[in-house]
Amino acid sequence: MNLIMKMLAAPATVLALWAVSAQAATNDDIAKRLEPVGQVCVQGKECKGMEVAASAGGGDAKTPDSVIAKHCGACHTAGVLGAPKIGDAAAWGERAKKEGGVDGLLAKAISGINAMPPKGTCADCSDADLKGAIQKMSGLK
Ligand code: HEC
Repeated sequence: MNLIMKMLAAPATVLALWAVSAQAATNDDIAKRLEPVGQVCVQGKECKGMEVAASAGGGDAKTPDSVIAKHCGACHTAGVLGAPKIGDAAAWGERAKKEGGVDGLLAKAISGINAMPPKGTCADCSDADLKGAIQKMSGLK
């Protein structure tokens, strides 16, 4: 390599390193800016931190009432889009009969059904959290 080539190669390396670190900073910045919005999960990729949040209960202990107040009540209080209303034992009872009991309803609540979104929008609810909310809303045991 002659001297000219060496002189050209050195800045090129610096430039390449700079480009890499600039890219990293940009990704970090984006992640930081998105942090308040919540965990960003790319489909097909493992969702880091979600399992921790799930096992830790999201930081705050959930009760059937808090889950219903934060999530389910938006639709189930007034019966939006045909959602069975809170306390409407007949409507819930009929659904429970069709799905094979509370656990059948739980399975549908987890997967979602028609206008009912998966987990009723409570993405960090455990199965037990959801079941508690269903039992409270339906009066079923
Ligand atoms: C965006 C509105 C919405 C929210 C929020 C919502 N639901 Fe629902 N839910 C519905 C609708 C609509 C149905 C009726 C779906 C159907 O049968 O077509 C339903 C039905 C259900 C059923 C009966 C499923 C079946 O098999 O018949 C269960 C159980 C349920 N919701 C649980 C929950 C729980 C628990 C939450 C809160 C964690 C919740 N839902 C939040 C709209 C909602």
